[in-house]
Amino acid sequence: MTEHELTRRRLLALGLAIPPLAALAGTDVFAGELLAATPAIADDDDDPTPAQTEGPYFTPNSPLRRSIVPARAAGTRFTLTGRVLTTAGRPIARALVDFWQADASGAYDNSGFRFRGHHFTDANGRYALTTVVPGLYPGRTKHIHVKVQPRGGSILTTQLYFPGVARNRSDRIFQSALLVRNWRRVGARRAARFDFVLR
Ligand SMILES: [Fe+2]
Repeated sequence: MTEHELTRRRLLALGLAIPPLAALAGTDVFAGELLAATPAIADDDDDPTPAQTEGPYFTPNSPLRRSIVPARAAGTRFTLTGRVLTTAGRPIARALVDFWQADASGAYDNSGFRFRGHHFTDANGRYALTTVVPGLYPGRTKHIHVKVQPRGGSILTTQLYFPGVARNRSDRIFQSALLVRNWRRVGARRAARFDFVLR
């Protein structure tokens, strides 16, 4: 028995066997396994990102910009990157992402556009936001508001949350599905990822 066969048998035992190329080209016992795998792939569709209230502080017509940090603003710089995807995992190019949030002290700018801005995903569905970690304000845990809209499509309004914030546990609308992923330090900054999945 060759080493290749041994590996194959072990994979088979785990239910993970990959058919040899010859099997893909023609009829083979493994054809049944390929067909059987199809429903599992369908089950892998991503759940749509949950919607949440926009709250009282949305201002329309925010500026077009990826960085929503005003010059010399206080706070820990934070970069959020990710993609806008369909439930089948396909990237959505030119989707609108419109972010707004409190500053590092927990205050919203409701007369101007500090910590407000929108931009569009690139050809691969990617966006990149530069901001600061928002502060707490009474009654809420730390969060960033966002509206996401594919071209000509309906708007997803939701909020994103931060791991390790004690007040997540008492916030009435906090959802763990909306926690930013891969939260990490990059020098003095913070970074995280979040992929929006649109129905
Ligand atoms: Fe808010």
